Amino acid sequence: MNILGISCFYHDSAAALVRDGKIIAAAQEERFTRKKHDDNFPKHAVEFCLKTAGIDMSQIDVVAFYEKPLVKFERLLRTYFAYAPIGFNSFIKAMPQWIRKKLWMQELLLEELPGFKGKIIYPEHHESHAAAAFFPSPFQDAAFLTIDGVGEWTTTSFGTGRGNKIQIDYEIHFPHSLGLLYSAFTYYTGFKVNSGEYKVMGLAPYGEPKYVDLIYKHLIDLKEDGSFRMNMDYFDFAAGLTMTNAKFDAIFGGPPRKPESRLGQREMDLAKSVQVVTEEIMMRMSKHVRKITGQKNLCLAGGVALNCVANGKLLKERVFENVWIQPAAGDAGSALGAALFGWYQYANNPRNADNKNDTQFASYLGPDFTDAEIEAYLISHDIPYKKHDRSAMVQSVAGILADEKVVGWFQNRMEFGPRALGSRSIIGDARSTKMQSVMNLKIKYRESFRPFAPSVLREKMTDYFDVDY
Ligand SMILES: [Fe+2]
Repeated sequence: MNILGISCFYHDSAAALVRDGKIIAAAQEERFTRKKHDDNFPKHAVEFCLKTAGIDMSQIDVVAFYEKPLVKFERLLRTYFAYAPIGFNSFIKAMPQWIRKKLWMQELLLEELPGFKGKIIYPEHHESHAAAAFFPSPFQDAAFLTIDGVGEWTTTSFGTGRGNKIQIDYEIHFPHSLGLLYSAFTYYTGFKVNSGEYKVMGLAPYGEPKYVDLIYKHLIDLKEDGSFRMNMDYFDFAAGLTMTNAKFDAIFGGPPRKPESRLGQREMDLAKSVQVVTEEIMMRMSKHVRKITGQKNLCLAGGVALNCVANGKLLKERVFENVWIQPAAGDAGSALGAALFGWYQYANNPRNADNKNDTQFASYLGPDFTDAEIEAYLISHDIPYKKHDRSAMVQSVAGILADEKVVGWFQNRMEFGPRALGSRSIIGDARSTKMQSVMNLKIKYRESFRPFAPSVLREKMTDYFDVDY
């Protein structure tokens, strides 16, 4: 059985193909169109998935769309009526796309997938996240926690995965959302919502958590079990065209930073503060999930699970014995989650995890290119090149890195998810104190504070890092 998972029309469109439970291919549309966070129908990603599987559209049995469009539309309508007449502008702005496209999802999918004769299923947004977290994980049984901005109504969910089934036991609903709280600070510190969140995380270590008390006092009522309610007097995302409002500005000392203007200590302190609050909420939630589910394994997904600093703290505190995080934790990964949901939850096929190995293939699920293809490209574009055998190439690259130079590294299949994991990576010597700024300067439009992930042989890990897992 071939199942095609699709997520699109919000941000980070993607497609994934699962054949008889095995993940065959997954990729984000932006990697083909070179349009960052491309939200169009993932035409190229679908083509790539079919090509990798060696099939055409008529051989797809099920298409799994990553959320329920009508329930999402209902949330939009109800939110509008709850705040009306405030919010009329954002309502009017959102409507044409819904009326032209999203309300007619079934027709639209059939139109975009010529030759498809199978069934279309629509798991809920957080079911897709939970499926992406649990089904590829190494665990036969595990708790899962999904945290993002918002799906239909849900912004946070947890529950248990057992064998071939996931069951969501608890949800937090819109507008109360940790993802949207983080996005509000992303907006306020002058970065782009739904894409600049990782910059806020990268900026946080340069700041002091000066605003934490103000956040708890005014913005969010956090309970011991990690559940929370947000005070919507300070946010405009439910009805307005911005994330925060004048009341928010009054508490945090002025209007949002203008994008591209100079970053100051204030933005760094704000970033640190929302990061500290996020870590505290994730810690409390995880402890509660452990207590309620009694599971020793945890699977994480949803955009907030891309906060690797918070994830690192969870690991370090050993709230759970084992943690597995979906590498494509955002909505792109939900294309994969929806497809796996189709195979296990919907078609009820058995799942036998060995509690050791995951089935995500290190997330190397994207396109690859043969040496002959690469050579043909270099020749046709007049790009000078030298061909080495592998050991000479590794020797030479090690020498270049030791000279504190920066190398573009391209091998095998592309990663699925936002992180470069050694297939399409820019690498440098992490021991060099100037490497971070050298590298950022070499990459166009990158701010100097942006961090890079160090990688190290597992057996050398404790030589460099204060970790023991
Ligand atoms: Fe999501």
